[in-house]
Amino acid sequence: MTIKSICCLGAGYVGGPTMAMIAAKCPDIQVTVADMNEKRIAAWNSDTLPVYEPGLDAVVASALGRNLHFTTDIRSAIAAADLIFVSVGTPTKSYGIGAGRAADLRYIESAARLIAEVSEGHKIIVEKSTIPVKTATAIKAILAANSPNGATFQVLSNPEFLAEGTAVEDLEFPDRILIGGEVTLEGTAAVEALASVYARWIPRERILTTNLWSSELSKLVANAFLAQRISSINSISALCEATGADVDEVSRAIGMDSRIGPKFLKASVGFGGSCFQKDILNLVYLCDSFNLPKVAKYWAQVVQLNDWQKSRFVEKIVRTLYNTVNGKRIGILGFAFKKDTNDTRESPAIHVCRDLLNERAHLAIYDPRVSKETIHEDLIYAGVSPELIASNVEFCADPYAAANGAHALATLTEWDEFRTLDLPRLYELMFKPAFIFDGRAVLPSAALKAHGFDAFVIGKGA
Ligand code: UDX
Ligand code: ADP
Repeated sequence: MTIKSICCLGAGYVGGPTMAMIAAKCPDIQVTVADMNEKRIAAWNSDTLPVYEPGLDAVVASALGRNLHFTTDIRSAIAAADLIFVSVGTPTKSYGIGAGRAADLRYIESAARLIAEVSEGHKIIVEKSTIPVKTATAIKAILAANSPNGATFQVLSNPEFLAEGTAVEDLEFPDRILIGGEVTLEGTAAVEALASVYARWIPRERILTTNLWSSELSKLVANAFLAQRISSINSISALCEATGADVDEVSRAIGMDSRIGPKFLKASVGFGGSCFQKDILNLVYLCDSFNLPKVAKYWAQVVQLNDWQKSRFVEKIVRTLYNTVNGKRIGILGFAFKKDTNDTRESPAIHVCRDLLNERAHLAIYDPRVSKETIHEDLIYAGVSPELIASNVEFCADPYAAANGAHALATLTEWDEFRTLDLPRLYELMFKPAFIFDGRAVLPSAALKAHGFDAFVIGKGA
């Protein structure tokens, strides 16, 4: 089966960039991204994309209107496609059975029902969203039971491993592409059809094929392992602070062991992002469902440690500022969950800001990419009252405005521009002692001290 027309349901952080890359690399394949969110679709069709990713503008521009289309006409997009990616959101359930842990699969289910209703002939359905293992069974059952036109389907799993901020690079040069399918003749043919799309730009040896369940599970496990490394080094950051060791030196020393490797060992105020916490909670729920409570508990600890890391950072600030931040101005540098993205989902900054506001601090927040509206929405969602935001939060246009009259600064995102701040200027603007809490170890720590700051850097002992 040769793929001539692809559709993707969901124009989010995953669907949009992934389809743009496929369209750019396969000019002979028509790629249509469909989403009911009109604002999002309009943004993809404009000069201001809804997702900020270095290099993404050029990739989209190279194919938009040629073989890349963004539309709200979901039915027509499904009808025209040989292969349909399902890249809709799978948030953590906030209600009922499994609340706070299980994945909410209602968008997946309604997408499957719509595909069944609209389709004719044979189509390949690809799970792109991160989903619990065995979801393909549910999708298959829904498709089989609801196809008035007698359409037939093969369901594949093809999880996306791109990281935000480096999406374009990750899509162009991925470590691997994982495709899971049924171990039948039809299943193998469908896997091959999708593999041959990726093979246009990715070496065959990097395209890995497995059974459906291994593929579904591997995505959760990859994220759990990555998050576990961060929680491991963050646990050690606390020990470093207590003992006078330097966590960056420890990371370097252990990372040079080729069995450990150097990546994902940067201590921080905590990991954020739309995937890590959600996927671990999902894994924990799965383990519990399969009656493996010890395994569930093991992985749950990764999230608990992350929560503790955020809380202890706030506690450090409050204790250092003489046990009260009430009425004190604290400059917050960075709100995104990591640099080079405007995404704030599960950003540790939300947790830190909420807790500081509960202590009645005045926050002066600066982030080079995150809008005031997003920060406002995030704080409301985290339970901060609109009145408290109105009276105690200021949005600043640059770091110096945030530092002006501040008792302390806290770095919560590792934006590169923070590495070259004008330290004497910052010091001048602040109350003395001028406290700095570097939650990302991104500021030049020796220079901070030389310029008179009272600096606390995550994972660095006194
Ligand atoms: C992650 C996975 O990396 C990606 O493969 C998957 O598809 C989606 O989830 P993402 O959430 O975009 O990607 O970002 P990532 O770079 O993994 O960072 C996640 C969080 O961990 C960020 O808050 C980051 O600041 C933090 N982090 C990362 C650390 O604190 N220390 C590190 O060493 C690395
Ligand atoms: P991700 O980070 O996984 O890409 P997002 O939440 O950014 O997730 O995007 C998911 C998108 O999927 C949203 O824009 C939402 O409107 C869209 N969506 C949800 N259900 C459907 C559906 N049945 N058909 C098309 N799009 C959908």
